[in-house]
Amino acid sequence: PAITFIHPDGKSDRVETSDGESAMQAATRHGLDGILAECGGNAMCATCHVYVDASWLARLPAMADDEDALLDGAAAERQPASRLSCQIVITPDLDGLVLKMPERQV
Ligand code: FES
Repeated sequence: PAITFIHPDGKSDRVETSDGESAMQAATRHGLDGILAECGGNAMCATCHVYVDASWLARLPAMADDEDALLDGAAAERQPASRLSCQIVITPDLDGLVLKMPERQV
């Protein structure tokens, strides 16, 4: 599946992903600097914050309590579309997913 990351300046990068990897892993593997992922994907840092495109939001599995709590401490403003990209596991039905990266992660 391929997913698209939109940078704060509006530029976008479409990256190939593997089933079972997280959106965060796909972003860091492709060197996208808008995702820091300081904790390595353990839902502990909130530096992998993304805003999910409105058309995709309802199609993602619901977030767990730890993700929900961490998002309150994200550096950029939390919005209804906020998720942690390390907790979004790529599956074939997420082909085409669009994630916007916030202005800052720290
Ligand atoms: Fe740390 Fe996602 S990488 S919370």
